[in-house]
Amino acid sequence: MTTRVIKNISELTTNDPSLGVGVAGRLHDAAVVLDEQRVLWVGPNAAAPAADEMIDAQDSAVIPGFVDSHTHLVFAGERSEEFEARMNGTPYDGGGISNTVAATRAASSDELRCATEKRLGELRAGGVTTVEIKSGYALTVDGEARLVDMANEFSDEVTFLGAHVVPPEYLNDREAYVDLVRGPMLDLCAPKSKWADVFCDRGAFDVDESREILSAAKSAGLQLRVHGNQLGATGGVALAVELDAASVDHCTFLSDDDIERLCASKTVATLLPGAEFSTRADYSSARRLRERGAVVALATDCNPGTSYVTSMGFVLAIAVRDMRMDFDDALWSATRGGAAALRRDDVGHLGVGARADVVILDAPRAAHLAYRPGATIVRRVIGAA
Ligand code: NIG
Ligand code: FE
Repeated sequence: MTTRVIKNISELTTNDPSLGVGVAGRLHDAAVVLDEQRVLWVGPNAAAPAADEMIDAQDSAVIPGFVDSHTHLVFAGERSEEFEARMNGTPYDGGGISNTVAATRAASSDELRCATEKRLGELRAGGVTTVEIKSGYALTVDGEARLVDMANEFSDEVTFLGAHVVPPEYLNDREAYVDLVRGPMLDLCAPKSKWADVFCDRGAFDVDESREILSAAKSAGLQLRVHGNQLGATGGVALAVELDAASVDHCTFLSDDDIERLCASKTVATLLPGAEFSTRADYSSARRLRERGAVVALATDCNPGTSYVTSMGFVLAIAVRDMRMDFDDALWSATRGGAAALRRDDVGHLGVGARADVVILDAPRAAHLAYRPGATIVRRVIGAA
């Protein structure tokens, strides 16, 4: 297997405190050796062993590839008019999801594939090397299976989100839709999915409905994640912890009890500031979570309604400026935190044995990702996405 050494790294973030300073496991004037799959060696530039190839980082910063643990990449259409209306004061209530459902149902598989590939290309160009992809914009048995199949073309981290909202044709019989999701839809989608998710919130599914669907998914062998507490303190966080979900995502509204529950659990709080940005909601309390010791992930939530965001750099900029996260903490959350939200320990860091997912920046320090919002400072991405 070919080996590569990345030399002349001005600032290396390993996220492995045994290798360097602080939570970032930071080294200066460093080098990394990789083969095609794994990190083989990390240390001072001067001590770097020889390899088959040399990549010169030219005194730039290097970070682990971003782990984007929450996306809805497979959809058709767009909702910029809804975004404009929100910027002029119309609140977000999830109602626009039905527009994307109609567009997605009508799209051919080739159209969906091209659109998904394009968005994945944007994520990757910004340094994402691991991506989770949800279904959730078809809401029929065959339609959700088609989206799950398509997500599998692009990622191993595939999430079945048949319980995104109750589709228009079931609005007079929600119970029948819940039965469809936890019955035939789950039967078809579970074998091709790793995760199940439910939008447990106002206008979507209540706690009891969500528990029924998630429990059925768990019995079918899926691991759980939850969209919770985006539109109100509606019990999504408590349910996620109760069911040992890997992650509860959004957490825009958090009570002290919710934070206590998260801290006492293995459930990661995944924050999605692109959604608050695009819905003019208040940002979630990242600092409160971190001060109390909760594990926090940051992700794009790329979707056409609340967060048509494909830049983890943009997410970092908001996290640092508006959510007042310390930069290294935010970077950890966007890499190792995302990995924790997917219950993975092979990505999100550059310790020896980790996957060889590496981003070389066009900047001397990683903090430029937040310091220079909008600039293209990812020079090279090594690894899969
Ligand atoms: O994560 N909140 C639920 N689902 C998506 C938005 C869906 C949409 O509006 O299309 C989210 O924000
Ligand atoms: Fe989402």
